[in-house]
Amino acid sequence: MFYRIADDRPLPRDPLTAIVSPRPIAWITTRGADGQVNLSPYSFFTAVAYSPPQVIVSSIGNKPDRDAGKDTFAQASATGMLCINIAGYEDREAVNASSAPFPAGVNEAAHLGLELAECETIDCPRLAGAAASLECRLIQVVDLEGEANRLMIARIEAIHLRDDCVTEEGRFDVTRYKPLTRLGYADFGAIETVFAMPRPRLPE
Ligand SMILES: Cc1cc2nc3c(=O)[nH]c(=O)nc-3n(C[C@H](O)[C@H](O)[C@H](O)COP(=O)(O)O)c2cc1C
Repeated sequence: MFYRIADDRPLPRDPLTAIVSPRPIAWITTRGADGQVNLSPYSFFTAVAYSPPQVIVSSIGNKPDRDAGKDTFAQASATGMLCINIAGYEDREAVNASSAPFPAGVNEAAHLGLELAECETIDCPRLAGAAASLECRLIQVVDLEGEANRLMIARIEAIHLRDDCVTEEGRFDVTRYKPLTRLGYADFGAIETVFAMPRPRLPE
């Protein structure tokens, strides 16, 4: 099968997110300028640099109760701070439930009974039970092509790792929480199989 984006799609649904999968999920907590706490998942997310460590997240579409964009982007843009929490298979129902289009004033974490803790380096809550949490400062918001597509670039200031996910050898062991990932359509995945392959070297 082949088709051009400019032509009619020969499939009933857009396969893009099934093709570009699995994607990690940024389960983002923010505190707005008015103190309002927000929690929502974003899978257009990845790490893009080590030093300084940087991540990107993109938002598509507008919420009906906002002039532009979604609550997470509005709050992070207003304060310059956000916390990216990492979810595991056990969090799957809560991750999905937190994506409902709640009105701007709703604290999804409280609504779902999820425990919050304060970040250390930014004025922002984090999910106390997350496998990992990244305390981030917003560097830049880039308007992307298309209607209401926006990209956030953020620098990681500090990292929390749940103690039971760190091995005695000092590795962050994903098999201990099974990272929840987003696929296409309504599909999710959880990483079950991990194997290591040393990077190839050219013969001397
Ligand atoms: C697992 C998952 C991943 C999602 N990823 C994105 C994403 O990358 N970008 C986006 O705009 N919406 C994404 N959504 C939808 C948002 O979570 C949803 O629009 C939510 O209501 C936004 O909340 P907010 O307005 O509180 O930020 C995702 C939903 C789920 C369940």
